[in-house]
Amino acid sequence: MSAPAAVDLAPFLERAFFFDAVEDSYRITGIQGDVPAAVRGTYYVNGPARFTRAGMQYKHWLDGDGMVCAARFDDAGVTFTNRFVRTAKLRDEEAAGRFLYRGFGTAFADDRLRRNVMLEPPVNVSAYPFAGVLLAFGEQSLPYELDPVTLETRGEYDFHGKLNGLSPFAAHAKFDPANGHMLNFGISYAADHPVVNIYEFAPDASLIRRRRHPIRMPHSNHDFGFTANWTCFFLSPLLMNFPKFWNERVSVMESLTWEPEKGSRILLVPRQARDAAAIEVPAGCGYCLHLINCFETEGHLVMDILELEAPVYPEYQPVPDLFPTVTPCRPTRYVVDLANGQLAERRVMAYDCAPDFPNIDPRLPGQAYSDFWMLGISHSGKPGRKFFDQLAHGSWKKGEVHDLYQTEPGVYLGGEPNYVNGYILVEQLDARSREASLLLFDARQVANGPVTRLPLRHPIHLGFHTSFAPAE
Ligand SMILES: [Fe+2]
Repeated sequence: MSAPAAVDLAPFLERAFFFDAVEDSYRITGIQGDVPAAVRGTYYVNGPARFTRAGMQYKHWLDGDGMVCAARFDDAGVTFTNRFVRTAKLRDEEAAGRFLYRGFGTAFADDRLRRNVMLEPPVNVSAYPFAGVLLAFGEQSLPYELDPVTLETRGEYDFHGKLNGLSPFAAHAKFDPANGHMLNFGISYAADHPVVNIYEFAPDASLIRRRRHPIRMPHSNHDFGFTANWTCFFLSPLLMNFPKFWNERVSVMESLTWEPEKGSRILLVPRQARDAAAIEVPAGCGYCLHLINCFETEGHLVMDILELEAPVYPEYQPVPDLFPTVTPCRPTRYVVDLANGQLAERRVMAYDCAPDFPNIDPRLPGQAYSDFWMLGISHSGKPGRKFFDQLAHGSWKKGEVHDLYQTEPGVYLGGEPNYVNGYILVEQLDARSREASLLLFDARQVANGPVTRLPLRHPIHLGFHTSFAPAE
């Protein structure tokens, strides 16, 4: 007697990755529900949207070529536009008719790097409006400038010549609502002397300052936070071995080692005062991909993160069978006493459905807040492929995830939930019927289900990070 077939916890998930994305621009028709008057402006989401070429298939979710989608809300309706970011990688590979460059998780014979040192980025992580343009970001390199309406790619953006093609620059730019500044970081992995570079730009994209702070280990670090006085990092012991990456011609994924015995550390670097000392605090041995927010209160710095027991990157493969063994992940609050540099409190929220892509009201980064929204995976803890199928709403005041929307089997959510004036915008793909839509929820009560569904003409790939440019 043969063993019963394992239950597929993510039916039709392959349909979320393997299709030829159609670039288009059109007015959305067939909208179900009213588009709230409070939602006016343009929503952007970036994500990987091409995983195959000439019979070759990428292994890892982070490998795919970036595609930006825009939904422009005005009084006449909603216009949807989506285009690939025309990177150097995409241009060369379209001309060759095959993949040429090494990916984050896919290395192959004769694959290429940028200037023989770094990935030629697929620019698939995020897209942020800034200084009158739209910037699409990949990991570890300059963003690409896009036309904010047509999404036409104009080329790499070097911040008025202050950065160059080898400047380390992460995908998680942050925007300080207090002054409109953009902050970002990038890690230099120079042999034996890894350094975190911290940049701050004025609203016109001029560079206000660049700090370099030595770090003990070559951390692979994806995100950061800030307050009025500090830039804030949760450095997990996921370490990048660049000599291995260069000498053994392996992927980034194969060059990363997880060394939990080395512990995690909170690193706080003064944002403005050049002479002030940084603060380093041991913080267990968990893994953090994304922070929720940071703020200061009464001599303490609060750092809220989504904390896993182990890195999540191995769960982004093999496409399309993602998250096969994802470890529990929980919203976790660390409180640092700024007077003595000690950890004063660690508080864990009970929700453990591998949440990711947290987001808050864009008026509140760096400031006291309570509510946040994120995607979750209902089947966490069970073996086998699975994907985001929950929109979860947490509150630090309530101390829990008190409000939750669950999709039907075969229906998946994507793109960091985006807060717009009391509403949450998120992507949905019904893999059963291959129908994509944008959903709007009442941010206070996502459990009630979407108040508005905006059906899209073609399937779209579920993305990573989002932004919203309010109407002028
Ligand atoms: Fe991210």
